[in-house]
Amino acid sequence: MDTQPATGKIVTLTSHTLQEQAELGSQATGDLTLLLTAIQTTCKTIAMNVRRARLLDLIGAAGTANKTGDDQKKLDILSNEIMVNTLRQSGKTAVMVSEEDEEAIIVEDMYRGKYAVVFDPLDGSSNIDAGVNIGTIFGVYKVEGQPSVEAVLKPGREMVVAGYCMYGSSSNLVISTGKGVNGYTLDNGIGEFILTHPDIRIPSRGKIYSFNEGNALFFDEPTKKYLESIKYPSNNKPYSARYIGSMVADVHRTLLYGGIFGYPADKKSKSGKLRLLYEGYPMAYLVEQAGGLAIDGKGNILDIVPTQIHQRTGIFLGSKEDVEDVAKFYKEA
Ligand code: AHG
Ligand code: MN
Ligand code: MN
Repeated sequence: MDTQPATGKIVTLTSHTLQEQAELGSQATGDLTLLLTAIQTTCKTIAMNVRRARLLDLIGAAGTANKTGDDQKKLDILSNEIMVNTLRQSGKTAVMVSEEDEEAIIVEDMYRGKYAVVFDPLDGSSNIDAGVNIGTIFGVYKVEGQPSVEAVLKPGREMVVAGYCMYGSSSNLVISTGKGVNGYTLDNGIGEFILTHPDIRIPSRGKIYSFNEGNALFFDEPTKKYLESIKYPSNNKPYSARYIGSMVADVHRTLLYGGIFGYPADKKSKSGKLRLLYEGYPMAYLVEQAGGLAIDGKGNILDIVPTQIHQRTGIFLGSKEDVEDVAKFYKEA
């Protein structure tokens, strides 16, 4: 596919979504397309603030903690405000759940639409001050009936859209509407996300593992044994280690190169560290749509039925065969 702006044959996220909408014929109302436009706007706005963070004095701690206990950075708070306000004004949301807000937000009547959006406005906050890649993660559910928190207490498999935007050397929006995964790169010149990674497929096996091994002291036996198996393999071809510490960046690399990303539940963080609704589900959804797999050790992440909006999960995701290897160690245990 030709994606060069100079040719005039560019495919933007908006034109691509409109094309998908047209293929659905009269069933499609265009509401989801408009919601995706609002999400794009949030990503562009956050991307601009990330790029200029040092110049705009947006670096550093805000001196506050969110209600779920994480220290907040200035950019965490700003990104959350951008998301909440832009999504509310789109008129397409009924419920929002953000990592930065303790309670689910029920959108007031005059702005109410029919979608629920769960999001991590800024992922990888510990990397902000060093200029390392960070991102935004989101998932969308359709709301049936009266909007309430119940709209998002559903397995990730029921999401209608999942995606992330990574702010790095370029801004990359990676998204799935349940028909595979596409990646778009922001062309700052025209302010549009251009289709640059059509139909992303994750390799069935990779050569890279991505864990915070600083937690190894607390890892359970299956995790320890699995890591041993890829570091000291019988074929003398150990995996390479890559760990950025921004889930968005670690998952992005895993989608493109293959391999495995893991943040397991362990003796210290008994339920894991990462959040199920707005970190686990969207990433698991994308990985599965790209042909990979995501598990918590016991089962598929996307089948977990959540009971709380901020609940945590252990997670292993990536190339199907690599994640199946982890599952074998858990089965044996
Ligand atoms: P957030 O910045 O949204 O709180 O998320 C941070 C997460 C995730 O991005 C990353 O995978 C993980 O925390 C890194 O944790 P460690 O620093 O414990 O390795
Ligand atoms: Mn996060
Ligand atoms: Mn965050």
